[in-house]
Amino acid sequence: MNAAAQAMYEQLRTKLGRVLPDFELRRKAELAVEIEEWKRRRNAVILAHNYMEPALFYSVSDFRGDSLDLSRKAATTDRDVIVFCGVRFMAETAKILNPSKTVLIPSPRAGCSLAESITAEDIRQLRTRFPGIPVVSYINTYAEVKAESDLCCTSSNAAAVVESLHAPTVIFVPDRYLAMNVARETGRHIIFPSRTPVQDPENLLDVQMIGWDGRCEVHERFTVEDIQNARRQFPDVVVLAHPECKPEVVAAADFSGSTNAMIRYVAEHPAPRYLLLTECAMGDNVAAAHPDRELVRLCSIRCPHMNEITMEDTLEALRQMRYEVDVPEPIRSRARRAVERMLTIG
Ligand code: 13P
Ligand code: SF4
Repeated sequence: MNAAAQAMYEQLRTKLGRVLPDFELRRKAELAVEIEEWKRRRNAVILAHNYMEPALFYSVSDFRGDSLDLSRKAATTDRDVIVFCGVRFMAETAKILNPSKTVLIPSPRAGCSLAESITAEDIRQLRTRFPGIPVVSYINTYAEVKAESDLCCTSSNAAAVVESLHAPTVIFVPDRYLAMNVARETGRHIIFPSRTPVQDPENLLDVQMIGWDGRCEVHERFTVEDIQNARRQFPDVVVLAHPECKPEVVAAADFSGSTNAMIRYVAEHPAPRYLLLTECAMGDNVAAAHPDRELVRLCSIRCPHMNEITMEDTLEALRQMRYEVDVPEPIRSRARRAVERMLTIG
């Protein structure tokens, strides 16, 4: 092991020595040093979502965060190349905000069940059915869908974005459960036209939100029964749920918020132990950041799309300048309006 790898190994051991075996730390340290070298050669920055595996998260990433945070970081970087260690819609958002930069994603297979649940044509049809009603699309959508939307939101700001419109009714796509959670938080009545036929727009008098039927394949798996079982097993556990969970799960939890909000909650609210109802790598990252806190660990609830992003592929992305994410004009400029409008709201 050379001096740079040894220093990287020490850095990783300090952070992850309690959660990863030594042989893994050594292997990852050598990889991380190679990635750092290629980052310098390419004048690149690495943005990593909170769901990245711990060794990647705590070694080569320049910025870490939730979707909102990373969109903001992507908007301000001065490097030539952005490597997005996250899923495709996130990398697309970076490209939407930085058309002159090269944006790479380490795996072409890093999709998202929410982003795949809706198309631009779906939005056009919704607009025809419900004329004049503004469309808010979750950031977990592809650029074509953003381009058809008035405004984007993330799990950090969804309620604020909906309220910022001061509109009697808002179309909110594509996450069914996030929409229901926002409706509950803002006191709005929501319908899902795919399930409730709406013949006459007059019938919308009592409706303040119109949703879509997309779901996150990871968060939809959590149930109220899971929470009850966890509370029986660990009576002092504090349960945190991502707002992509079903509303009854969010209601049974002690706190709900974006991945950044959950991380902040653990940092700011000392408790005997926590259960994070979200993608499981994040629990590992939070546990590493707080050696003094107990986390009830989930090992099987891994997002298959986030799991596509490895340190090995990140290295190859920089070496081979692959896989480049492109968003054609004028889709990009229309999508940019919706994303930037969101960034001004917070
Ligand atoms: P956050 O914006 O809360 O990080 O969520 C992104 C995501 O894909 C959650 O599944
Ligand atoms: Fe998409 Fe769910 Fe994976 Fe997040 S956890 S990227 S919402 S499939």
